[in-house]
Amino acid sequence: MELREERPDDRWEVEALFDLAFAPGREALSSYRLRDDVPPVSALCLVARDDTGILGGAVRFWPVRVGVHAALLLGPIAVHPTRQGEGLGALLVEESLSRAHEWDRVLLVGDAPYYSRFGFSPLVGVEMPPPTNPARVLGRALKPGAWDSVTGKVQRLD
Ligand SMILES: CC(C)(COP(=O)(O)OP(=O)(O)OC[C@H]1O[C@@H](n2cnc3c(N)ncnc32)[C@H](O)[C@@H]1OP(=O)(O)O)[C@@H](O)C(=O)NCCC(=O)NCCS
Repeated sequence: MELREERPDDRWEVEALFDLAFAPGREALSSYRLRDDVPPVSALCLVARDDTGILGGAVRFWPVRVGVHAALLLGPIAVHPTRQGEGLGALLVEESLSRAHEWDRVLLVGDAPYYSRFGFSPLVGVEMPPPTNPARVLGRALKPGAWDSVTGKVQRLD
């Protein structure tokens, strides 16, 4: 698998992968309102292709803020159903976050049993746009203590 930054010509294949991996209507989720018309953090948006060029997985990131604090929003992330369970999701998470030198903190909406292995834990007092289950709002400090005392609504970084 080769991991590299997503390029404009990857875009529709990545969209198709997300459509395959998620329930229909994913773009109606409230978290997408944080992304509308906001450019992604392109240096961290990665695709994984095998040696024949087939797309195995992809991850994208958006900039958001929590109060006055900038944060990365991880997601969507998906691995093709035929490649799941091979460690590709872990590779995408770890490699993208290892490139996030300029950022202090990252959050996502997801399953704690999966993301806890990467150091994510529930963020108390950090509110994603409703309706979002608060128990699925998870964060990881990229610099020591970066989530300490950071609370409030997650908002678009306009
Ligand atoms: C979630 C996803 C990205 C993980 O990618 P992956 O390449 O299969 O993951 P990995 O190979 O790194 O890890 C596999 C392990 O994670 C576990 N796992 C995967 N999804 C999980 C979940 N939602 N909750 C708990 N554990 C999960 C698997 O059971 C497996 O466990 P094991 O290591 O004990 O065998 C992938 O399953 C996927 O695309 N799912 C559909 C889209 C999705 O849900 N995206 C995330 C939205 S937050």
